[in-house]
Amino acid sequence: MIKLGILGTGGMALAHANAFNSIDGCKIVAACDIDSKRVNDFAAKHGIPEVYTDADEMLAQSDLDAVTIVTPDPFHHPLALKVIAAGKHILCEKPLALNHADALEMRDAAQKAGVINMVNFSYRNSSAIQKATELVAQGALGTIRHVHAYYHQSWLVHDYWGHWPTSPTWLWRLSKSHGSAGVINDIGIHILDFASMPLGSLASVHCRLKCFDKAEGNQIGEYKLDANDSAVITTEFTNGALGTIHTTRWAYPHKNSLRLDLYGDKASIEIDLNASSTELKINRILGRTAMEWETLDCGKTPTNFERFIKSIQTGVQDQPDFARGAEIQSVLDACHLSAENDKTIQIHS
Ligand SMILES: NC(=O)c1ccc[n+]([C@@H]2O[C@H](COP(=O)([O-])OP(=O)(O)OC[C@H]3O[C@@H](n4cnc5c(N)ncnc54)[C@H](O)[C@@H]3O)[C@@H](O)[C@H]2O)c1
Repeated sequence: MIKLGILGTGGMALAHANAFNSIDGCKIVAACDIDSKRVNDFAAKHGIPEVYTDADEMLAQSDLDAVTIVTPDPFHHPLALKVIAAGKHILCEKPLALNHADALEMRDAAQKAGVINMVNFSYRNSSAIQKATELVAQGALGTIRHVHAYYHQSWLVHDYWGHWPTSPTWLWRLSKSHGSAGVINDIGIHILDFASMPLGSLASVHCRLKCFDKAEGNQIGEYKLDANDSAVITTEFTNGALGTIHTTRWAYPHKNSLRLDLYGDKASIEIDLNASSTELKINRILGRTAMEWETLDCGKTPTNFERFIKSIQTGVQDQPDFARGAEIQSVLDACHLSAENDKTIQIHS
């Protein structure tokens, strides 16, 4: 039985608890949050026997094999280094860190310690993206020339996930001093991973970031609302394809929409996770004039949670690992540099 500890018991921790509780061979035995009411409620709800309000205490006192980190972004790096130093396998929420240098430190520490390490790029749980990656590797699309991808949310203009002006879980995401680097690091990171998974790395980016007015003086309590909430990236992939990738929190009625279109010289693929996470549309050119789209059922793929547990059981590191997390972090750093200087930035991961 793999014994897990969970660090951070806010909104996303529910998905971790539900996922790990449904996998045979593992059990969450300890929960830790700096908010004692939240962690006690969470532990009671999920039947977790040990409760802590200090990560050091949890790591020193609990008999753990692995830890999952689900705190806000600024705590990933310091907490991950402690977890790795304690010799525990580690799953960390995205973004791995606040910058590429910190992400590299985490990657190197995990590799040196020989622990299984994964970053939760959740949309890899879609079998459609796994199948698209396979098809591209087999050459089914020929040479890909053009890519279009987006990740849209709209919680700034709709209350379906709660009233953001009164919810710390949303307010910290809007505030640089609370460790947020904006929509691009929050959900743009997912679409950057998603768009480059089938095709390979990004060679360069030109990015525009914008923070729109949202409140009186753009300040609510301790939260200064200064992090970007809309981003548009034009990119060139290492294979020479051009792409546009964009993300925003203003795209009503998109609650949580990801889309990826890949256009090759032999076929095109479109994935729309709103329509299905297990199907993709493919259009094979084959000299026809008709625009015939075929829908492929891509079956099931293991979730990141299942891959993490299996990696611990087998000792074989699966993806997405910290190296991939650090690679995507280098793209994010390049996007910020590009936006600050209004110029194209070459990516060196
Ligand atoms: N993979 C995904 O699709 C996905 C989706 C949502 C959130 N996330 C990520 O999950 C992380 C958490 O997001 P959330 O929405 O749950 O945030 P949240 O604010 O709802 O919860 C974070 C919790 O961490 C606790 N915390 C803060 N510092 C801590 C520390 N040092 N030790 C222990 N606990 C601490 C807070 O008290 C809070 O309860 C973020 O990094 C976010 O980017 C990922």
